[in-house]
Amino acid sequence: MSPSIEARTDMFTPGEYPLPDGPISSRSCRNVRAHAAAVTVLSAETTTAESCSPALGPPGGGEVVTAQSIGEAGGMTTENSARAAGHAQLGSFRVNRMGFGTMKLTGWPQGKQPTRDTAIALLRRAVELGVNHIDTSQFYDRDGMNANELIREALHPYPEDLVLVTKFAAIEPGLTADGLRKNVEVNLRTLGLDRLHVVNLRVGAAIAPVEESLEAPLTALAALQAEGAIEHLGISNVTRAQFDQARDLAPFVCVQNAYNVAMRGDDPLIDACEAAGIAYVPFFPVGGFQPVLTEHLGTVAERHGVSTPQVALAWLLARSPSILLIPGTSDPRHLEENIAAGGLRLTEEDLALIG
Ligand SMILES: NC(=O)c1ccc[n+]([C@@H]2O[C@H](COP(=O)([O-])OP(=O)(O)OC[C@H]3O[C@@H](n4cnc5c(N)ncnc54)[C@H](OP(=O)(O)O)[C@@H]3O)[C@@H](O)[C@H]2O)c1
Repeated sequence: MSPSIEARTDMFTPGEYPLPDGPISSRSCRNVRAHAAAVTVLSAETTTAESCSPALGPPGGGEVVTAQSIGEAGGMTTENSARAAGHAQLGSFRVNRMGFGTMKLTGWPQGKQPTRDTAIALLRRAVELGVNHIDTSQFYDRDGMNANELIREALHPYPEDLVLVTKFAAIEPGLTADGLRKNVEVNLRTLGLDRLHVVNLRVGAAIAPVEESLEAPLTALAALQAEGAIEHLGISNVTRAQFDQARDLAPFVCVQNAYNVAMRGDDPLIDACEAAGIAYVPFFPVGGFQPVLTEHLGTVAERHGVSTPQVALAWLLARSPSILLIPGTSDPRHLEENIAAGGLRLTEEDLALIG
């Protein structure tokens, strides 16, 4: 294996991972209330092909949450299941909108690290609770804990409906065709797959996107996809201009960028994803390295008897039916809480208060 694509822990040293600007007070979001209704439609048994964009709402089949079971006036489902968040398409895969991110399982690049047993138990519990969309990367690796290897150890042979989304290149300056090929080989091996389900081409700086052409790396990745090594492509940490460029270069099924209730710079991009039937997968959904805080999250949380991270997750589900969630945690209680948030429906009043 090339040392250049071995998981590296020297990309960031503890404390260096750039943080987004501190807690941002509540801002207006013109789309949230309109989309809350769309989410309910997508989750209801009455979902029709006409009511959803083609890639996001296949009609019929599967277990879905009914409007009755979640209560029309908002509130929380009693069953704790990722299915309560409803489902959407990720390319050809149908996934529950509540998924799981594995970065915190390894403590990469900084912060607390769970024990190996806890990390394995978290993955198994997530799947037991209905999660069928797990985000990972070979470079989530620290002190003997590697996210891909943990997933394989915990879950292989994989449930048929489990979709593993990996990402390449955040630690690979240059994004050469050779480097991308080696990333494919390593991820296939460590995940124990014959074909990678979804690969995000991760560009930009540690957090912020950087304007640079996607032409060479995305074309090279599309060539690897054409060879059969990858089912679907995605792009990550991109600007709107890069999204537009990518649309002309290769089909992709998701965008993974930093976004949450307090960090809404991607609003136009989310609208573009929704219009194009492309999934938008926010990283840092509950704040990433610092808890997400806005003025009225606490008030809404109190109303429903839930935590503020749960409100932050429910707000994202209401923001757009194209949003799929992958909150990360190293704490079993937080895992239960986050998945339960998939069953939390915010009311019009809640959404207006949050702004
Ligand atoms: N494409 C990219 O460039 C990129 C970048 C970053 C992340 N990602 C992916 O996105 C996923 C999500 O991002 P993230 O994990 O960094 O951020 P996140 O999900 O917003 O936040 C995780 C942090 O919030 C805490 N937390 C989670 N649930 C909580 C709860 N219910 N109550 C209180 N605290 C809670 C966690 O601490 P505890 O461990 O104590 O729960 C952890 O510190 C990652 O796991 C990774 O798969 C992608």
